[in-house]
Amino acid sequence: MTEYVSESQQETERLGAEFANALKGGDVIAMFAELGAGKTAFVRGVLRGLGYDGYVSSPTFAFVNEYDTGDFILSHFDMYRIENEEQLYSIGYYDYLDDRHVLMLEWAENVEFALDDDTVRIHIYGSGDEPRRITIENG
Ligand SMILES: Nc1ncnc2c1ncn2[C@@H]1O[C@H](COP(=O)(O)OP(=O)(O)OP(=O)(O)O)[C@@H](O)[C@H]1O
Ligand SMILES: [Mg+2]
Repeated sequence: MTEYVSESQQETERLGAEFANALKGGDVIAMFAELGAGKTAFVRGVLRGLGYDGYVSSPTFAFVNEYDTGDFILSHFDMYRIENEEQLYSIGYYDYLDDRHVLMLEWAENVEFALDDDTVRIHIYGSGDEPRRITIENG
């Protein structure tokens, strides 16, 4: 497990950009954190690291936003409203589990049942003006 402290949104984005270097098709990244902790900021950083400089926001209404990075498609999921396996199935989640996609999941707490031993787990602790503690555990 690696652990970081981030004092700002910009720092969280920089950590995301560094983390992006190690990604490869088929990776599933599960993010656990409270509301407003910085999950989307981290994903934005990942996308910046992969060379995407457009708008990145929580895919709350769409469930998933997709970004073609060249090597793989980064699929940014928001599981906030997912309650069970049937719902996860109905948004097409299982179709994304292949080597063409890298998945980043906000609110992974809600889909613990769908995660396996290979899943990378990121926790962000803290919210508001507090510094964040960010832990990354490889599967
Ligand atoms: N160290 C930090 N890292 C990340 N964000 C921070 C930090 N300090 C303050 N912030 C602020 O916290 C907010 C994080 O918002 P963000 O949308 O990334 O969170 P989230 O976890 O995706 O929220 P949600 O659960 O609503 O999807 C931003 O307003 C950001 O400016
Ligand atoms: Mg978010």
